[in-house]
Amino acid sequence: MAKLFFALIFTVGIIASTNAVAIRFSNDVSTIGPEPTPSPTISSAACADLNGVKSHSTGQCFIHVNETKTFIQAELHCESLNGHLTSIHSGFDNLLVADFAREIFPSIDQYYVGLTRFEGNNDAWQDGTRVDYTDYGYQNYGQLCTTVIMNDATWTRTDCFTQAYFVCSV
Ligand SMILES: *[C@@H]1O[C@H](CO)[C@@H](O)[C@H](O)[C@H]1NC(C)=O
Repeated sequence: MAKLFFALIFTVGIIASTNAVAIRFSNDVSTIGPEPTPSPTISSAACADLNGVKSHSTGQCFIHVNETKTFIQAELHCESLNGHLTSIHSGFDNLLVADFAREIFPSIDQYYVGLTRFEGNNDAWQDGTRVDYTDYGYQNYGQLCTTVIMNDATWTRTDCFTQAYFVCSV
C-alpha cells in the first residue's frame, strides 16, 4: 500500500513538474523541479497586501487559504503564489499561525503545513528548509502528511488525501 501510494504521488509529481512546479521528497536525489525557495524576503507591506502575517524570526509571510484541498493540491496552490505549504521553525510561529487560523478558517478544524515523511522516515519541509522544530501530539504512524489541530496547535500525521485547510508561506 505504501509503495502504491508512493508511486501515485511520484506520478503526480512528474505530471506536476511539467507545469513547472515541484513536489519535494525527503531524499534530495528524487527532488523534482527548482531549488528550494531561499529565505523569503517580501516586505511587511507586501505581506499585508496578501492578507498574510509575517514571522518576526524567519521573515516568512504566512498565508491562510480559506479553502480545503488535498496535500498535493494545497502545495500546488501555494506554488501558484510563488511559495510552498509553510514550514514552521519555532513554537512561537506555531502559535502565531494557529491563532490566525482560528480567526480566518470558519471552523475549529485542522490545516496542512508542508511537512512530509515520504522516504526513509526522514521528515522534509516542502520549502526545503531544515526540520528544526516539530510539535507532534498524536503521531498517527503510517500517515505521511502533517496537519495542525486547531484546538491546541499540536501536529498530527494525516492521510495526504484528506481535504483540509492549509497555510502557505511566501
Ligand atoms: C472563509 O470561508 C467561509 C465559507 O466559505 C466564509 O463564511 C468565511 O467568511 C471565510 N472567511 C474569511 C476570513 O474570508
